[in-house]
Amino acid sequence: MTGGGGIRIAPSVLSADLTRLAEQVHQALVGGADWLHVDVMDGRFVPNLTFGANMIEALRRLTDKPIDAHLMVVEPERYIDSFAAAGASVFTFHPEATLHVQRQLAAVRSHGMLAGLALNPGSPLALAEEVITDLDLLLVMAVNPGFGGQTYLASSSDKIRRARELLSAHGSRAFLEADGGITPQTIAEAHAAGADTFVAGNAVFTSADPAREVQELRRRCLVTV
Ligand code: DX5
Ligand code: ZN
Repeated sequence: MTGGGGIRIAPSVLSADLTRLAEQVHQALVGGADWLHVDVMDGRFVPNLTFGANMIEALRRLTDKPIDAHLMVVEPERYIDSFAAAGASVFTFHPEATLHVQRQLAAVRSHGMLAGLALNPGSPLALAEEVITDLDLLLVMAVNPGFGGQTYLASSSDKIRRARELLSAHGSRAFLEADGGITPQTIAEAHAAGADTFVAGNAVFTSADPAREVQELRRRCLVTV
């Protein structure tokens, strides 16, 4: 599971019907979902509350696919141990949420997870540049975090383009993940800008056919290549 090749579709269970979680996850996997994205919110870093390590554990019982944890929480370092133990594969946090970003990235790796940094629309890429060699994944938020179903911000594609340039300039093989507002209508633009990993919540799980939707997202990327 290294960066630099192919594309990944990572459905976000934030938008799943939790009364049918196993069934919906299964449908996404049948459609070829590569990773499962879990949006962890604490009601402080973002104005919403969601899941903890128990969601990671539950998903881990459903699949061997990588579980992509996105922590929108203050002091993400408090959850590194428990998320690793629960079976998370990627642990991504926001630089504003902790005092010692590099230390926490190193701690994530030392727990056997890939280390990701997530940048809000208003957060500069320079925050990632300072720790570029510590990154396995760079997540560019295409909406302000907190809720699913928001609209892809037009400025995101230029941010993704500059993020790709930054990774290339440093010879980084980190994944470049676009998160927020990814739909069949926006994914091609994000892909053309240089993203290789795509989170999609609403698009996949409000669809009557999540498997077909995952396939459609992948197809829309490939036709632009
Ligand atoms: C937003 C989350 C996203 C969200 C994406 O705070 O980080 O991962 O689930 O949802 P959609 O695809 O509906 O914008
Ligand atoms: Zn997310």
